[in-house]
Amino acid sequence: MHLIEEQHMPAAGSDILVIGGGKGGVGKTCFAVNLAIEIARRGWRTVLLDADLSCSNVETVLGVECDTRLDDFFYQKGAKSLEYVIRDTAYENLRLIPGTSGLLDVANPRYQLKVALIRELRKLGADLVLVDLDAGAHLNTLDFFLLAADSGVLVITPERTSIDNAFKFLRAALFRRVTRFYNSAEVGLLLKRCESLSEFIACVRESHALEDETREQVIEEMSALARSMRPRIVVNKAANVYEAKIAANILSKHVRQHLMIEPELLGHLYFDQHVSEAVNSGMPFVIGQPHRKISACIADMANRLGYF
Ligand SMILES: Nc1ncnc2c1ncn2[C@@H]1O[C@H](COP(=O)(O)OP(=O)(O)OP(=O)(O)O)[C@@H](O)[C@H]1O
Ligand SMILES: [Mg+2]
Repeated sequence: MHLIEEQHMPAAGSDILVIGGGKGGVGKTCFAVNLAIEIARRGWRTVLLDADLSCSNVETVLGVECDTRLDDFFYQKGAKSLEYVIRDTAYENLRLIPGTSGLLDVANPRYQLKVALIRELRKLGADLVLVDLDAGAHLNTLDFFLLAADSGVLVITPERTSIDNAFKFLRAALFRRVTRFYNSAEVGLLLKRCESLSEFIACVRESHALEDETREQVIEEMSALARSMRPRIVVNKAANVYEAKIAANILSKHVRQHLMIEPELLGHLYFDQHVSEAVNSGMPFVIGQPHRKISACIADMANRLGYF
């Protein structure tokens, strides 16, 4: 088995919070936009990146129109810079990097381009960069989630399908991480046959292709990769706090047991019919409906993240 170091990890700089979750329509974009505005209006220099490479819609939820987009970053020749694509918004301290136009050739940027993007994000001098991902577990989505591996947020709803998809998304992210770490076709093949990290570790244990010492080292490395991922769960569209806690507990238990990852609950958002009105009017609910319970939930999560 050929072991390589995890390469190209971005240097420290702006904090990054990547918002994913696997299932479409669970509320990732609404959560990202409202949290970004809440944190920005507390005085933190905040950047929102629409990294939904196929169907970006942060602009709509934020109520702005942009003429430069993420495509322009990927198309730049030579050294890449975000200077031409980042723009101010109507909200003080909040800048936006609009998503791509959905054209095919930038819907699938090379790995190095994604690394360059994350590196430039870190250099922006922001206090926080929020990254809104698309649905599904495509390689691009996983790579963005993993480039800030210790700061991913999984948005789910209390529905079983959403919990299942979040588990599968996290599993795909972890397996992608393990495959990249070992850069080995053997590992990739073995992983494809496994439903969980615990099953994979059992396969490695039984493998006769490895010396005892190597086997233990590999198991220790994989466990460390899993442990270093600390996803935070946000339960959206909850009827009440109990429903949210039950959904988060089901996901956490499953993830702990099968992926050896320890997630934590960041918070919940109530189902609120005003969210839809807020989207249609381009006036995010923390601005248009500051006194509703859902806006207080966003404020709680900003506090819990340490942006007082
Ligand atoms: N807390 C909520 N209460 C009621 N409706 C909500 C809530 N959050 C989001 N919605 C609605 O759910 C729909 C999907 O929201 P959003 O676009 O944020 O999801 P998404 O996860 O980003 O979707 P996609 O995967 O397509 O990017 C929107 O119609 C929005 O109005
Ligand atoms: Mg979205």
